[in-house]
Amino acid sequence: MILKNDLLLRAARGEKTERTPVWLMRQAGRVLPEYRAVREHLSGFKELVETPELAAEVSIQPVDILDVDAAIIFSDILVVPDAMGLPYELVEKVGPRFSKTIRSEEDLEGIKVADPDDISYVYEALKITKRALNGRVPLIGFSGAPWTLFSYMVEGGGSKTFSEPKRMLYQNPQLAHRLLDMITESTIAYLKRQVESGADLIQIFDSWAGILAPEYYREFSLKYIKRICSAIENVPITVFAKGAWFALEDMADLDCQTIGLDWNMDASIVKSILRAKTLQGNLDPCALYGSFDDIRKETKSMLDSFGDHPHIANLGHGVYPDTDPEKVKCFIESVKEFSS
Ligand code: CP3
Repeated sequence: MILKNDLLLRAARGEKTERTPVWLMRQAGRVLPEYRAVREHLSGFKELVETPELAAEVSIQPVDILDVDAAIIFSDILVVPDAMGLPYELVEKVGPRFSKTIRSEEDLEGIKVADPDDISYVYEALKITKRALNGRVPLIGFSGAPWTLFSYMVEGGGSKTFSEPKRMLYQNPQLAHRLLDMITESTIAYLKRQVESGADLIQIFDSWAGILAPEYYREFSLKYIKRICSAIENVPITVFAKGAWFALEDMADLDCQTIGLDWNMDASIVKSILRAKTLQGNLDPCALYGSFDDIRKETKSMLDSFGDHPHIANLGHGVYPDTDPEKVKCFIESVKEFSS
C-alpha cells in the first residue's frame, strides 16, 4: 500500500523532508478522553490489549484527534513475558505486577522461549489497524528491550532501584544471561511477525537503560539489542534507551536507523556523536504543563537544537496521562509550523 504521509519513514532513513515528522510515545492512552471511554467498559487493560478490534480503535484515535504523523500499535511490552509463562496484571494506580518472578535456576525451569503464535492478538490488531489507516500514516510496532523486560520479570513489578535484577547481575551473571537470551529469542520471533503483519517501523524501548553502569549496560543490554537489530529486516528500527547517554558512542554501531533521546540528552552534543543516525525526541514531557505560549517557545528551541540533522520530533519519554490534550495538540502544531 502506498503511504500518503511517509515523513516518518523518510526521516528515519535520513532523507531530507519538507518538515519534521511528529508523534508521541504513549499517544494511545489515558491522555485522550476517547481512550478512557473505551477502556471504561472493559474488565481491564489486558482485555483491551487482547481484543484486536479495540486495540486497533485506540491506536487510530491519536491519528484522528491529534493529527500525528504515525500510529503506534496499542499493546504493552509485557506481552512477551506473558507468552514466556510469566503472566502480568496491571494494578490500578500501582502499575504492572507479576505473581511469579525469576530469581533462581528453578524459577527459570518454569518459563520458555515464547511461541510467537501465543501473541497473535497483536498481529491481528496490526492488520486491522493497517487496513483502517488505509495509508494515511505509517504504523509503528514495538517491543521492550531484553534488559527492561528482564528487570520486570526479576523484580516482579515496577521499582525505583530495580535492586533484584541488578543483584542477579552481580551474584549470578550466568543465570542473567540465560534469561536475557530467552527474552531475546522470544522478541526476535515476535518482532518478525509484527513486520509480516504490517508494522512499517519497529521501536525498541529500553526504559531502564539508565540504571546500569556503562560496562554492565554493554554486557547485559546493548549486546542483546544488537542481536535484535541484526535479526530484523526490511523496516527501519528506532532504539530508545532512556538515560543511556553514557552509551551513545556504542549505539553508533547498532544496525538501526534512529536513536531516541530523552530530555536529559543535549541534541547539540548527540548530533556530533551519532552523525549517521536519525535522532528522535526530546522535549521534557513536563514542558506540556506550561502555557500555550511557553510550549511554542520550548518546541521551537527543541527543533533548533537539532538543526538540519535528520530528526523525528517527540517527547523525551511517554506523554503523562494528566496532560491537557489541547497542550499536546499545541506541541504537534508547533512542530509542523516551525519546521516547514
Ligand atoms: O501509545 C503508545 O505508546 C502505545 C502503547 C504503549 C503502552 N505501553 C500502553 C500502556 C506502549 C508503547 C507501552 C510500552 C511500555 N509499557 C513501556 C516502555 C515505554 C515507557 O513508558 O518507558 C513500559 C516500561 C511499559 C510497562 C508498563 N505498562 C507500565 C510501567 C505501565 C503502568 C504505567 C501507567 O502508565 O499506568 C503500563 C500500563 C500501560 N501501558 C498503560 C498504557 C496506556 C496504562 C494502562 C491503563 O489504561 O490504565
